[in-house]
Amino acid sequence: MCGIVGYIGHREAYPIILQGLQRLEYRGYDSAGIALYDGDHLKVCKTKGKVEDLKNRLESEISTKGTIGIGHTRWATHGVPNDINSHPHISNSGNLVIIHNGIIENYDPLRQELINRGYSFQSDTDTEVLVNLIEDVKSKENVKLGKAVQIALNQTIGAYAIAVFDKTKPNEIVVARLGSPLAIGVGDDEFFIASDATPFIEYTNNAIYLEDGEMAVVRNHKELEIRKIKDDSLVDPYIQELQLNLEQIEKGGYDHFMIKEIYEQPDAITDTFRGRMKTKEGIIRMAGIDDNIDKFLNARRIVVVACGTSWHAGLVAEYIFEEFARIPVEVEYASEFRYRNPVIYEDDVVIAISQSGETADTMAAIKLAKEKGAFVFGVCNVVGSSISRETHAGAYTHAGPEIGVASTKAFTTQITILTLIALKLAKLKGKLSLTEFRTYLQELESIPAKVAEALKSNEQAIRVAAQYKDVANALYLGRGYNFPVALEGALKLKEISYIHAEGYPAAEMKHGPIALIDEEMPVVVIATRQGHYEKVVSNIEEIKARSGKIIGIVSKGDTEVKKLADHVIEIPETLEPFTPLLTTIPLQLLSYHIAVMLGKNVDQPRNLAKSVTVE
Ligand code: G6P
Repeated sequence: MCGIVGYIGHREAYPIILQGLQRLEYRGYDSAGIALYDGDHLKVCKTKGKVEDLKNRLESEISTKGTIGIGHTRWATHGVPNDINSHPHISNSGNLVIIHNGIIENYDPLRQELINRGYSFQSDTDTEVLVNLIEDVKSKENVKLGKAVQIALNQTIGAYAIAVFDKTKPNEIVVARLGSPLAIGVGDDEFFIASDATPFIEYTNNAIYLEDGEMAVVRNHKELEIRKIKDDSLVDPYIQELQLNLEQIEKGGYDHFMIKEIYEQPDAITDTFRGRMKTKEGIIRMAGIDDNIDKFLNARRIVVVACGTSWHAGLVAEYIFEEFARIPVEVEYASEFRYRNPVIYEDDVVIAISQSGETADTMAAIKLAKEKGAFVFGVCNVVGSSISRETHAGAYTHAGPEIGVASTKAFTTQITILTLIALKLAKLKGKLSLTEFRTYLQELESIPAKVAEALKSNEQAIRVAAQYKDVANALYLGRGYNFPVALEGALKLKEISYIHAEGYPAAEMKHGPIALIDEEMPVVVIATRQGHYEKVVSNIEEIKARSGKIIGIVSKGDTEVKKLADHVIEIPETLEPFTPLLTTIPLQLLSYHIAVMLGKNVDQPRNLAKSVTVE
């Protein structure tokens, strides 16, 4: 995920673009860059680091004059975060300059073709390939920039929101979108371009949100033309009046980063799949696994090391790996593992899971596992983070920046990627037939839409939250794949509302926690139809017999739990191993709303930090 900003009009472009980048920094912050045209020269400044670093560097290095410009804040996908890989990227002639949010999946063959035609590349990015492809088309076909962008995009596979201009014709910017957002602010004789409307809200309330597959040329400060990229047909611009205020916008219109991130999960999971899952062909492609496939296929065990929510994702993975790939799995708290001289074999695969890629205990566990000769694989969200560099190989979750301290989309995307790995290994080990494999992939593909449906439980979560916000304790129960979800649900509540909560395997309740149950105690029970349903229903009866209050997380259309529970929240049906991706959604919403109702600082809960770099 990246943020893009552009301006063409009568004002100085620099302050508008710089402020826009600051507002979009939630979308990525590993590097930033700006391109401005001052009437004579194209000036580009880019740097690894935050927008603040760019500002310091830019103001000392280049003049900031110019009424046309583009800017970018990056969440690296292709190429490590460094100055060269930062956007904007310039074409070989030095005339075209581009910013891009997304991934051009077929950039490699396109790059090869361009190299054969004499082009050279400085960066490792797919974006530099795209700007040179546009340039190549433009000169080969002798067409205007807009047409060249259109022809070039029709040769690409992937996702993009782009803005590009030509310094030899600095009266227009061409933009296009497929899969990544792009808004055009329409002012008086001026246009603003951005990933969302936040960068231009104080200049205009009029915005056009491009639809997927559309491109636009904004020209001469007044002209605007929107077309379909595929068939060149003209589209009538639909100008919306924005209902935003400045305070809301830093969270993209949400009250807190946490709720925004909860709602981002359908897209985040889709981004985790992107380019990896080929359902029709029955293939899962992941370079980090493919390049080290023997290590995985010959693994004696998989040992997961992680902390916090990532540890819970590891527990879900234990169930999934053992079920599908039939490889024994152990899940360790990194902080325990690192200090207890664990038995690690050279044919063990250690998987380190970490959203931030910076957690000190996980880092230390990785170093210890490497010393003991194991192959260490990282599952991280933050591109270029320490853990992603320290591990032998890895896979990014591509969830985009997670800013709320209570982890939400990181958890579901970690489970997603670990599921992809387990399914891939299961197929290669002959544990799943091609038909079974395809059935699982098809169902996985439907998960983002089902997560979106599960998010519709928000209103119910608000009602339940209002009733239980003042309790002192809560119990979360689940079995099988949903036992770790019970732990995660309890953690979410503790972290942000400071209510004491315990997660337990449902059947273990009678070995202790049942003593806590009285009419004051809410018990959140995950009782989906697929997973040991009858057993969970019996556990619910036991709670009911002791006057506990039941909040059931159930499959759509459930009747039995409904009869017993005080409240039920429905989620769509899916295959049992994938239920954690759905059952976790109402639990996130419930804890969020309780914390909000209690007036807690949801995004920055006391005593916690997003990235724990001390032991
Ligand atoms: C902190 C965060 C948690 C996170 C844990 C592990 O405690 O507040 O949300 O789960 O660290 O972080 P990691 O970045 O390694 O996943």
